[in-house]
Amino acid sequence: FHVDWDLVTAEKAGFDHFMLKEIYEQPKAYRDTMLGRIADDGKSVHLKELSMTDDYIRSIRKIHIVACGTAYHAGLVGKSVIETLARIPVENDVASEYRYRSPIITPDTLVIVVSQSGETADTLAALREAQKNGARVLAITNVVGSSVAREANDVITTWAGPEIAVASTKAYTSQLIAFYLLGLHLARVAGTQEQAAVEEIIAGLHALPEQVESILEQALLLKQVAESMAHHKSLFFIGRGVDYAVAQEGSLKLKEISYIHSEAYAAGELKHGTLALIEDGVPVIALVTQELLYEKTLSNIKEVKARGAHVLAVANSGFEDEVAKSVDEVFSIPKTLPILSPALAVVPLQLLSYYASLALGHDVDKPRNLAKSVTVE
Ligand code: G6P
Repeated sequence: FHVDWDLVTAEKAGFDHFMLKEIYEQPKAYRDTMLGRIADDGKSVHLKELSMTDDYIRSIRKIHIVACGTAYHAGLVGKSVIETLARIPVENDVASEYRYRSPIITPDTLVIVVSQSGETADTLAALREAQKNGARVLAITNVVGSSVAREANDVITTWAGPEIAVASTKAYTSQLIAFYLLGLHLARVAGTQEQAAVEEIIAGLHALPEQVESILEQALLLKQVAESMAHHKSLFFIGRGVDYAVAQEGSLKLKEISYIHSEAYAAGELKHGTLALIEDGVPVIALVTQELLYEKTLSNIKEVKARGAHVLAVANSGFEDEVAKSVDEVFSIPKTLPILSPALAVVPLQLLSYYASLALGHDVDKPRNLAKSVTVE
């Protein structure tokens, strides 16, 4: 009797790759990141770990969100969340650019750095630059005791658990949850949201883990799509509003592990150049989750279809029949509030990348030329 056993296989807990395991751990990561931060009666969010006073929060005039890679993409959603809920203006920067553009940092600027590892050199340098200019820094990180966590004035820990695969999945979605909680915390102090709206968002947050589970049950549908996509040289992701932010993350994920060239575009920007790249059979992944922008996105989809694109839409359940008339395939995600949809819409994109990389025979967990944590500038 012989058992093949090694530590790495054991750590994968039956999954073929860490990335797939981590994609499936997202419902737990969402729950763990929300735990203890939402009042039991579902009426409010209190981030008790924050040392910033209510007076300080009311004095914030602008927010800079600074990060690299996937964490930068979480920050793009964070901007929408904070601006929508707390009505504070937000700017996003990639950390490697931030210091060198001489940003206007004043004591009433809150700088939020986002870093899974808490060790990314550029992000750490941005944090120090912000503090040197008298700003408070709030870190969103997955590693307790990391450099970023130690140096920041405040920390929101994402409880995603260790992330091993280079391509970030559960860390990204946990960062989204952290932004939702932060947005609600700031909004409570600033008094910018009606109580009913807050309760609706909290109910929406509580529903997310099960909704992700239901997406994961459909994973094999995406495997087929990914396998046909994998043989194309180039493809495009389009969306509007937060769908555009998710499109950027979907495109990065695909590039990281499948090495297929892809680009994300704000769907309304297509006609200003990108449309020239669309020809027969080019795959386009369109995100259609924002009710307000639904008609507009649909007309952008028709523009690419008319040039021969093969379109997969990721659409809200309820819209899928209407969307199906204009596209080749639809993957429907459960209904949620527009602001929360990135926490669902990104999951099919993660799976698409995973299966495309697998189909091409690449090393999913350790893509070429990339490192999990970049501690040099
Ligand atoms: C590397 C990783 C990315 C990650 C980025 C930022 O490039 O490969 O997955 O998003 O660093 O890492 P951080 O730990 O700061 O979130």
